[in-house]
Amino acid sequence: MITMNNKIQSILARKGQSPVSEITAYDYPTARLVDEAGVDMILVGDSLGMMMLGYPDTTHVTLNHMLHHTEAVARAVKTAVVIADMPINTYETPEQALQTAKALMSVGADAVKLEGGAAKEEHIRTIVSAGIPVQGHIGLLPQKVLEEGGYRMRGKTDEEAAAIMRDMEAVVRAGAFSVVIECTRHAVAAEITKACPIITIGIGAGHGTCDGEVAVFHDLVGAFPWFVPGFAQPKANISEDITRAVKSYIGGIQLPTEQF
Ligand code: KIV
Repeated sequence: MITMNNKIQSILARKGQSPVSEITAYDYPTARLVDEAGVDMILVGDSLGMMMLGYPDTTHVTLNHMLHHTEAVARAVKTAVVIADMPINTYETPEQALQTAKALMSVGADAVKLEGGAAKEEHIRTIVSAGIPVQGHIGLLPQKVLEEGGYRMRGKTDEEAAAIMRDMEAVVRAGAFSVVIECTRHAVAAEITKACPIITIGIGAGHGTCDGEVAVFHDLVGAFPWFVPGFAQPKANISEDITRAVKSYIGGIQLPTEQF
């Protein structure tokens, strides 16, 4: 039996019972707020490349970036499962995947996430066999957007939908405890979820199609106004609040007065 911590076991037991929540965080204060608000899983996503570091996509993110941010998040989180993304080029072989996963666990992650289904089955199995819980990621794979023609919806043809289903089956066989389904046709996400014995987590894959959903924190709170994905459902407008506060501060600064 694969060893998994109790938090992950209890999330697995929620399949078909209650929806599972996952939100990204990349720093101490955000992770602490998100954890204290009661989220189930916090993803230190490689989306930090765009949200934190100003890169155009996730392909510039390094293991050092991920270690730095995962350590800060782990320091903040008391309750949620902390999942660290494995960045591009750090899991080319099963052996390299295990080294990367171990490095992320050593700075406080509870689990790791990596992109790819059938092509990464052996990589996931090797990590899981070492006792490290894995979240898979299928459908649109952001680390492959440059080679696979951008951020388009996946699963539009029967062949593509069948390939995503096979990816899910490979991730399950390899022993992952959950799998992110990104930007697929909503019916495809729903069909995969029905067939999948582990927790599916949707993003851009419709509501009520998966066992849970993941949101990028900045999309959720309106903290990155320069790009908002079409599927995002902002619940706040933090960027407006920041601009207002900064303008108010700038306007309130005074020159020396006689009184001092
Ligand atoms: O890096 C990330 O934020 C992700 C989510 C899109 C699932 O992988």
